Amino acid sequence: MKPLYTLAAGAALAAAVTQANAAEIEVLHWWTSGGEAKAANLLKQKLEAKGHTWKDFAVAGGGGDSAMTVLKSRAISGNPPAVAQIKGPLIQEWGEMGFLGNIDKVAREENWDSFLPPELSAYDKVDGHYAAVPVNIHRINWLWANPEVLEKSGIDSLPKTWDEFFADAKKIRDAGFVPLAHGGQPWQDATVFEVVLMGVGGADFYRKAFVDLDPEALTSDTMVKALKTFKKLRGAMDPDIAGRDWNIATSMVISGKAAMQIMGDWAKGEFTAAGMTPSEDYLCEAAPMTEHMFSYNVDSFAMFKVDDKGKQQAQMDLAGLILSKDFQTTFNKAKGSIPVRMDVPLDDFDACAKSSREAFDAAQAQGGLVPSLAHGMAVSASVQGAVFDVITNFFNDPDMPAEKAAERLASAVRAAG
Ligand code: GAL
Repeated sequence: MKPLYTLAAGAALAAAVTQANAAEIEVLHWWTSGGEAKAANLLKQKLEAKGHTWKDFAVAGGGGDSAMTVLKSRAISGNPPAVAQIKGPLIQEWGEMGFLGNIDKVAREENWDSFLPPELSAYDKVDGHYAAVPVNIHRINWLWANPEVLEKSGIDSLPKTWDEFFADAKKIRDAGFVPLAHGGQPWQDATVFEVVLMGVGGADFYRKAFVDLDPEALTSDTMVKALKTFKKLRGAMDPDIAGRDWNIATSMVISGKAAMQIMGDWAKGEFTAAGMTPSEDYLCEAAPMTEHMFSYNVDSFAMFKVDDKGKQQAQMDLAGLILSKDFQTTFNKAKGSIPVRMDVPLDDFDACAKSSREAFDAAQAQGGLVPSLAHGMAVSASVQGAVFDVITNFFNDPDMPAEKAAERLASAVRAAG
């Protein structure tokens, strides 16, 4: 047994080391809803347990559009935060502009390449070097539902096709509920449209249209059909969608005002935060016709270049703990996503998370895995913005024919690309 004084001296030394390297880092993110804030807080606590200080830079606004605008203005004024939530190809854009640091050291030490799927970790590397750390895998193509509302409407299972969906929507409406909760914001419109497009066109078509930006696919009959189906969904919504936040829409399902919502599984974070249990209090299923597909959205934290050694250490520590097995489990349970580490067992996750992982594996094996355009995984930020504009204008204009929207989509994408 070690003498007591040695233990005490050791502890004092450890504390001194921690203090010497301790730093404050500012972390920009947009996790401000009930479920999101709980998840973000877990990260803050872990970082602070290592002796560092998390300076919270939360910019409200689902999907992160406002956060990205604020990040740009901070960077332009020469004062970016040390860490920022950024996703997909946008990480490359920041890297190519010379803003991001290099966290290969921690990636090598902890062997990230052995447990991250290469198609996902590629987003976090700039010129082959890690500049960001992935946190999770969100699935977009989910349909969430309140079983009690369905029962009161005489519906015993969730719709598998869009025809079934519209038939069910009528029953729900007749029973006095809102069939589909929605928030009329461009990113939410695009989220719903992307899911409809996947179902109507299938994974190969989705890739042609929303990854390759093929003009023929963008103006095809399949695109027109998807646009028409999407527009028809307006009839399943309530009249007050304009500007509504996504979590307010989720709360309509939670409270039993609405029957269903199409949204990524951060919505599950809201159900979880409300103390609800899947299969009992709420249902999660693939959105109509997308059972064999998985539209993925991976949150990442990008590390900005910092000179201060303490801040560099804090960035490495943050990156390391984000990918620790333990954190992957607790965080993703709260966030509604699944671990991005493939070697984390999901045994004690809930049924929705288990079904998400199964869907991910199956889609990966069978070509059904697609990057989410609505969540910044598929195309550049400028093309994404152009698509958002066309989709939202079409959704809000009762007179615009779907054929015209498809033409506009193709020309807006050409102009932005
Ligand atoms: C997504 C993000 C999710 C979730 C959602 C709503 O873009 O990846 O983590 O927070 O926005 O804010």
